[in-house]
Amino acid sequence: MANIWIKKPMEAYEADIKKSELKRVLGKWSLTAIGIGAIIGGGIFVLTGTGAYYHAGPALALSFVIAGIACVFAALCYAEFASILPVEGSAYAYAYGTVGEVFAWIIGWGLILEYAMGSMTVAVSWSGYFTKFLHMFGIHLPNWLTTDPQTFAAAGGTGFSMNLPALLIVLFVISILVRGTKGAAKANNFIVILKVSAIIFVIIAGLFFINVDNWTPFIPEPTVITENGVSHEAYGYAGIVAGASAIFFAYVGFDAVSTQAGEAINPKKDVPFAIITSLVICTILYILVSLVLTGMMHYTDFNPLGKYPDAIKAPVAYAFDIAGQAWAGYIITIAATVGLISVLMVMIMGQSRIFLGMSKDGLIPKTFSKVNAASGVPRKNLMILGAVISVVAAFTPINDLAHMTSFGTLFAFTMVCVAVWMLRVKQPNLPRSFRVPFLPVIATLGILINVYLIINLSIEAQTYSFIWLLIGTVIYFLYSKKHSNLQNGGFGETFKAEQEPLEKVDVDIDNKD
Ligand code: ALA
Repeated sequence: MANIWIKKPMEAYEADIKKSELKRVLGKWSLTAIGIGAIIGGGIFVLTGTGAYYHAGPALALSFVIAGIACVFAALCYAEFASILPVEGSAYAYAYGTVGEVFAWIIGWGLILEYAMGSMTVAVSWSGYFTKFLHMFGIHLPNWLTTDPQTFAAAGGTGFSMNLPALLIVLFVISILVRGTKGAAKANNFIVILKVSAIIFVIIAGLFFINVDNWTPFIPEPTVITENGVSHEAYGYAGIVAGASAIFFAYVGFDAVSTQAGEAINPKKDVPFAIITSLVICTILYILVSLVLTGMMHYTDFNPLGKYPDAIKAPVAYAFDIAGQAWAGYIITIAATVGLISVLMVMIMGQSRIFLGMSKDGLIPKTFSKVNAASGVPRKNLMILGAVISVVAAFTPINDLAHMTSFGTLFAFTMVCVAVWMLRVKQPNLPRSFRVPFLPVIATLGILINVYLIINLSIEAQTYSFIWLLIGTVIYFLYSKKHSNLQNGGFGETFKAEQEPLEKVDVDIDNKD
């Protein structure tokens, strides 16, 4: 009788690592750039207006601090795990060795929301920025070429329509990824330098247009905002926390570093370093951007029914526009257009590596774990992902579901906090090159904050995400459980070793190249 809580023994991970055909080409700074590449995207340029007007007011910077802290707790837990298990499956792989197969599966399935659905959302946002970018040169694409059919029809359009730029950008990114990780990392490094420069530019240029009166009161009195007959409470301390949920998407991505552990030269040290460093750099930049933005424009000016109805759609660019510096808006549009390409690249790469891990374990078809010898990457896996992501992005109003990306991420963060703690209790002597300080406190806070942020997501996002997890559970029982290597004794002797204490197993792959 199959045991759905079966745990993957440490020896099986070690065997996976030794057998891995992926090329170890990523150093410490390339990994850090992968983290930043995934984190800084449309979120910071778009969600800041919503966060300031509907939730936190000038205290939006504190929302960024809270979301940042929630991520740091999870990041520390990811870092400890990556220092023990430098394998490509991220939270899925960590859960398989600690909580058990069915749970690992659900987490892997939930990660599809973060990575694959995140990629679709990013592709659609990229299309929006690209369209604006073309406008700068007087080029106007027809609506039927830049809009999914449902949105097109809702706006009164008739006939065929698709989001062609969203489709093409996914295919472009796939064409880079299938050539190998080294080239993709180089492209990512370049884009990261560009977008970090753009953010620093926003901060420095914005300083000259700050009116400190806009920061007073820094935490506005709680107020009820009513719009189109719907009311919600804004501002005050609760508003700061709600703001953290609203802007959380801007932080999504740092955990993608953990999906690249199979390609890191020195994964046990460099992956924890890159996870934490990329997050800390982005948190500091985000806090500064939000302070500058709310200093440049009064938070009530982001009201879509107020005097600047469009400000909330592109708040950062708009703030510069109002300050009479429209050229800054161009720089932001270019940075976001190019910057989103690296978010997409890392997200698709992350999804492919998670599938690779799940496929090696037999939980999804073997096609996903075939690594092409010349490029050292799972080409078929990437191509299948590219086909699905590009078509869905082109024909679905995916923006409505962007919150599901946050759900999948927060769900994985929560489980990583649980799992790292479990492993510390069960296997305290397992070699760890990074240990979370005060783990019980950090993990508990990480779990509480992440669950709280999940509760604050929209009801639609929660409902759809639960339906998604239910579908995943059905697939597990119909397919994955039957094909699982562990359930079929696929790891041979190591299968029996499951009962052995993990500290007996020496996982030393640091010098493997
Ligand atoms: N954090 C990424 C963004 O803001 C996903 O676009």
